Amino acid sequence: MGKALEGVRILDFTHVQSGPTCTQLLAWFGADVIKVERPGTGDITRGQLRDVPNVDSLYFTMLNHNKRSITLDTKNQKGKEVLEALVKHCDVLVENFAPGVLDRMLPWEKIQELNPRMVVASIKGFGPGPYEDCKVYENVAQCAGGSASTTGFRDGLPLVTGAQIGDSGTGLHLALGIVTALFQREKTGKGQRVTCAMQDGVLNLCRVKLRDQQRLAHGPLKEYSQFGEGIPFGDAVPRAGNDSGGGQPGRILKCKGWETDPNAYIYFITQAPVWEKICDVIGKPEWKSDPNFAKPEARLPRLNEVFGTIEEWTMTKTKFEAMEILNQYDIPCGPILSMKEIIEDRSLYETGTLVEVDHPTRGQYVTVGSPIKLSDSPAEVVRSPLLGEHTQEILRDVLGFSESQMEEIEGSGALGGGAHRIAAE
Ligand code: COA
Repeated sequence: MGKALEGVRILDFTHVQSGPTCTQLLAWFGADVIKVERPGTGDITRGQLRDVPNVDSLYFTMLNHNKRSITLDTKNQKGKEVLEALVKHCDVLVENFAPGVLDRMLPWEKIQELNPRMVVASIKGFGPGPYEDCKVYENVAQCAGGSASTTGFRDGLPLVTGAQIGDSGTGLHLALGIVTALFQREKTGKGQRVTCAMQDGVLNLCRVKLRDQQRLAHGPLKEYSQFGEGIPFGDAVPRAGNDSGGGQPGRILKCKGWETDPNAYIYFITQAPVWEKICDVIGKPEWKSDPNFAKPEARLPRLNEVFGTIEEWTMTKTKFEAMEILNQYDIPCGPILSMKEIIEDRSLYETGTLVEVDHPTRGQYVTVGSPIKLSDSPAEVVRSPLLGEHTQEILRDVLGFSESQMEEIEGSGALGGGAHRIAAE
């Protein structure tokens, strides 16, 4: 059986993290993703944060599975011709260059002239407005999208999160935009532009905080710990530590071993429907009828006391023991798992969430498989390409160039003077 996006060809000008996340997803769903890279260096991440000398970094390999790589100097005259031929043979162009670069390389009007069916998808740091010309990386987006000001503890600095919501988050948004534009093309026969700003992507993921900003006008945010602590609210949403962002209060609590293990913690949610069971488990059955604790509204000013008492119980159990007990009573909770615990969890390999990949120069490594599972289009992870590994095959099989045309292109230096061949060997 074919893959969901079989027959869709992507001209992939993405680099670093945001764009490659998007095209990797499309490749997992079966699109033919042709990654165009600058001769010699390629995607800058190939050489960044290297753990093994002279080998593509994990940064690169883990974001570029299932793609083909062609090296092409788009500033070379012959290279420009190859680029235009690629535009004619592809369905989607994806890029996350700095603002203005694509217009200088190949303007939208020219792309439409070459291929009116082409979808052109772009990630930029900001949308139109005062910051539209700015270059942006992950943490800039987290700061400008409202995440940093609402992450961390009230009395500490704003914090960025380890989840790459600016880069990978925006890549996910863009992938949805692309398949949606392809779906519309089925009806109209026309391509269109798809744009995602990283600031917008982060803000979309922080919409509960914009909700809280508006609630502030009508009184304190009672589910925030600072309400129970009697600390007045200012005019902007404060940082809420590990408070739950929803209507069911939650916190991170210590478990047995916390003194030496930085991850001996559990997230504990005092979900209202299971409150009575929580009281029984932690040895506080009297709270079930105590007017100070029986109802959710009564508990809000006393969350420190509530969670302090629950923590006295969780500290007597390891996070896994606590999980086992709490799950018997349907009490929502989750262990704080370290990356070491995650990479060693064999059950994640059975579902394809983690995958072991063989790579010709680095050997075996572990990556994250597709988090989106399609029953008729399972994603099989194929190692990332070496720099320029598929240059010849793309010129010949996709563009239909003859041997003499290929020699002419090679002779012009557009492919980087054979650098791709060396890299591929
Ligand atoms: N052949 C020849 N030139 C090439 C090329 C190729 N195959 N691929 C890229 N280039 C050139 C471009 O044409 C451009 O040249 P120009 O400025 O003379 O027109 C140049 O490379 C720079 O590309 P750019 O994307 O601007 O790289 P950068 O290192 O200056 O900036 C970012 C990096 C990430 C800051 C920037 O791309 C950006 O802001 N992207 C949008 C937001 C984003 O995705 N950020 C997150 C990244 S994870």
